[in-house]
Amino acid sequence: MRKNIAVLKGDGIGPEIVDQAILVLDAIAKKYGHEFVYTEVDIGGCSIDKHGVPITEEGMAMCKASDSVLLGAVGGPKWDGVDPSIRPEKALLAVRKELGLFANLRPTKLFAQLADASPLKDSVVGDGIDLMIVRELTGGIYFGKRRTEVVEGEKVATDEMTYSEHEVERIGRVAFETARKRGKRVASVDKANVLDSSRLWRAVMHRLAEEYPDVAYSDILVDNTAMQLIKNPGQFDVIVTENMFGDILSDEASMLTGSIGMMPSASLSSTTLGMYEPIHGSAPDIAGMDLANPIGTIMSAAMMLRYSFDMIEEADAIEAAVNKVLDDGYRTADIWKEGFRKVGCAEMGAAVAARL
Ligand code: IPM
Ligand code: MG
Repeated sequence: MRKNIAVLKGDGIGPEIVDQAILVLDAIAKKYGHEFVYTEVDIGGCSIDKHGVPITEEGMAMCKASDSVLLGAVGGPKWDGVDPSIRPEKALLAVRKELGLFANLRPTKLFAQLADASPLKDSVVGDGIDLMIVRELTGGIYFGKRRTEVVEGEKVATDEMTYSEHEVERIGRVAFETARKRGKRVASVDKANVLDSSRLWRAVMHRLAEEYPDVAYSDILVDNTAMQLIKNPGQFDVIVTENMFGDILSDEASMLTGSIGMMPSASLSSTTLGMYEPIHGSAPDIAGMDLANPIGTIMSAAMMLRYSFDMIEEADAIEAAVNKVLDDGYRTADIWKEGFRKVGCAEMGAAVAARL
């Protein structure tokens, strides 16, 4: 198969981690007889520097016309002072919205080889952590009306959180369908004891749950979820939640695995067009030093093959290669400990590619 991939390397460690994912994709192309055609698009701070905006219209059009998008990371202290309307993060939100990427899948898995990297006690980790956060990505407070005004002599700022039934239903369906292929449990996270948007969310989820009698459904309040993730993460299979709750809970969950550098994500639309990126940021402090862990990006490329290209065997092959590299003792600095082989970003990427 021939596939066009828009490559958005972005800022900080973005370019070096994406280069390793491309090395791995090329190994897959060679092994399975595919052709991947890459088109680079500037995004984030590097685009602000070059074009004055975090993504150009041509860049956005390129993403829309591609079969899928591979992203590194955006942002950094260099652009903290820029006008909020052109912040690097704006480009990310714009791509999500314009490509209709409403479903953000964030698998959170504790690799057996790294089990002792979890900050949780063995007794809490139990049989491991393997959960999937399904985060709504194009609605809620991220995209609601925003304003700052002066009321009676002082500034007042407002951000609105809005959800409509169809937005909740389509993300709910992704969660239930995902659960069917995994542990058959969905926990829907909301704040229905306070928010109207959450009460609507919950009502729609209850309706959907009746359509999926084979999936065990439960509601859980977001504050309790934050606690339960630490207390007993093994109880969760699929967690579905609105945009901002998902942003916060997915950072919390990723930390349970002790290795945010390993975690991939997929942002899916109602077509096969998706965007794939590691969940970590641009890590400007180690940019260009060959210290970054490329596994989160490599695993994101595997998700791209699985979800956008329906290349299941190929995706499995990448995941197996990553596991083999860990078995063989390769560790980047973030996951290294005594007795293991410390490697840089490029050597880690090459080691994965070589095992394909
Ligand atoms: C994420 C990030 C983004 C978000 C930022 C960079 C806008 O934190 O993907 O989780 O809040 O969605
Ligand atoms: Mg986040």
